[in-house]
Amino acid sequence: MADLDLDSDLLRRLRGNVLVLTGAGISVASGLPTFRGNDGLYEGLNPYELASPDAFAERPLTVWNWYAMRIRQGIGAQPNAAHHALVELEGLARGFTLITSNVDPLHERAGSRRVYKLHGDIMQTRCLSCRRIEPLDIPRFILNREGFANEDELPTCQCGGRLRPNVVWFGEYPNYEAMEAAQRTIPVVDVGIEVGTSGVVSYGFSEIIVALGTPLIRINPDAEVEPGVTALAGAAEEFLPSLVDAVRASR
Ligand code: OAD
Repeated sequence: MADLDLDSDLLRRLRGNVLVLTGAGISVASGLPTFRGNDGLYEGLNPYELASPDAFAERPLTVWNWYAMRIRQGIGAQPNAAHHALVELEGLARGFTLITSNVDPLHERAGSRRVYKLHGDIMQTRCLSCRRIEPLDIPRFILNREGFANEDELPTCQCGGRLRPNVVWFGEYPNYEAMEAAQRTIPVVDVGIEVGTSGVVSYGFSEIIVALGTPLIRINPDAEVEPGVTALAGAAEEFLPSLVDAVRASR
């Protein structure tokens, strides 16, 4: 477990109103790859050719099979110590908001009470015709271990329309409720915690927190020292449990 030396003001704030922003790095210890970097989900691939409305219109089979692979990973994955630590922190803090750009189901599986999902939910489908959002027909994806063989096999809605993953693609708006939660909480939180995101698609939330003079804790192996940021350069699954221990011990 990581050794933390946090000042008393920060520890007091962590029992106050806390905003947590998570990205793909928090799920690495659960066996889910990140998007960027070596072995990332985009490695060798153009994201726009996989995660955009145009890609889905032109190559629905390729796009669905990429998501089917990630859905199968998500179905098999279990939350790790970092997800569990956030559930504990939620119990210690006076106010707690969790906003993630992850589409995996691991925060919910760990027991986080409310998860705002900026980029949607890979365990749901949405109909292109009637727009109905439904939980994923899981057996269908488990049975299709090799992926869908042709377009006729792709999932359709009861209305006959084509289903797509209920996720946010490049060129689309992030989830409204999650954006609204960020707008509502950022100005009033005592501390922000950013975990496991490269910040490439982050809507500037962390930058706004710092600009407002609110302390930000950044947990990421790539975290660097910068003004207003407590950089914990390491893995979420090590640092988040240590952070929770430090908060517990601070009374
Ligand atoms: P990225 O793949 O861009 O970044 C993952 C971050 O996790 C990197 O900064 C790593 O250093 C860090 N990391 C790796 N292992 C870690 C660990 N064990 N603990 C903590 N951090 C670790 O993923 P995101 O920033 O989440 O959007 O990507 C944001 C968005 O870009 C995604 O939601 C997706 C993608 O395009 C859409 O699909 C619209």
